[in-house]
Amino acid sequence: MPEADTSKAEKNYYLDVPQKNELFFLKGSNSYDWGMKNRLSRIFDPKSGKTVMLAFDHGYFQGPTTGLERPDVTILPLAPHADALMLTRGILRTIIPAASRNAIVMRASGGPSILKELSHEHIAVDIEDALRMNVSAMAVQVFVGGEHESQSVINMTRLVDMGNRYGVPVLAVTAVGKDMVRDAKYIRLATRMCAELGAAFVKTYFVHDFETVTASCPVPIVIAGGKKLPELEALQMARNAIDQGALGVDMGRNIFQSGSPVAMISAVRKIVHEGMKPKEAYEMYQELRKN
Ligand code: R5P
Repeated sequence: MPEADTSKAEKNYYLDVPQKNELFFLKGSNSYDWGMKNRLSRIFDPKSGKTVMLAFDHGYFQGPTTGLERPDVTILPLAPHADALMLTRGILRTIIPAASRNAIVMRASGGPSILKELSHEHIAVDIEDALRMNVSAMAVQVFVGGEHESQSVINMTRLVDMGNRYGVPVLAVTAVGKDMVRDAKYIRLATRMCAELGAAFVKTYFVHDFETVTASCPVPIVIAGGKKLPELEALQMARNAIDQGALGVDMGRNIFQSGSPVAMISAVRKIVHEGMKPKEAYEMYQELRKN
């Protein structure tokens, strides 16, 4: 028998307790719908407000990159240490176990290889397929100042429109062309454009004066690792980025090309989520790599 709602005396309505109405923890993300916020909370840890993303989508334009020849061998052991995996749908379906607990940030743009003009990208995934794979976000490359600048921006806005329809956030990845200066002025322009045009978060490079980049971008920024650096330098870069307002890292080569990838991603986690200093994190890295 269903319970009849008749007697106030037997129930507790906590009349003296106001219903909680908390703001969402993530910068610039308060006005999204529930599904979008839930997906962002899978990428960014609500406790620290930050994320460690592992990027290994490099093959979508440059084939089997060093360290990614066999992602089943080299990447799967790293996955439990990452909050989110940034990858292509090909690698997701062929390599990543469906029981994985990681948030999935799926590469959703592509087209040209390293043999051609890289900015000539298109949208490369249908929103239905993204939903079928239960992704937490879709990632798109934006080539501000590149030959096909507008086309790449429109790829992003189309994905944002599709994502908004279903509550899927879009990560804009700012690509810096070979002949462009990678400085704060350029990065401020590129990241701000992505946020203004609807990206839920932006991936970009760490540069001098980075605090002006994070201050002028109204959505979260995560940094790319870039070319492989000595481990201590990469940890220092992560620390500086977080101290200057980045809400996480999306690192690839500096993790999977490290002398000890599991030790390195563990040290990066300490920096991002626990505020560890680079020297301490490096000592931890050296200790872990002995095992
Ligand atoms: C950008 O072009 C792609 O997302 C890369 O595959 C990724 O960002 C590179 O990561 P990293 O520079 O840390 O190797």
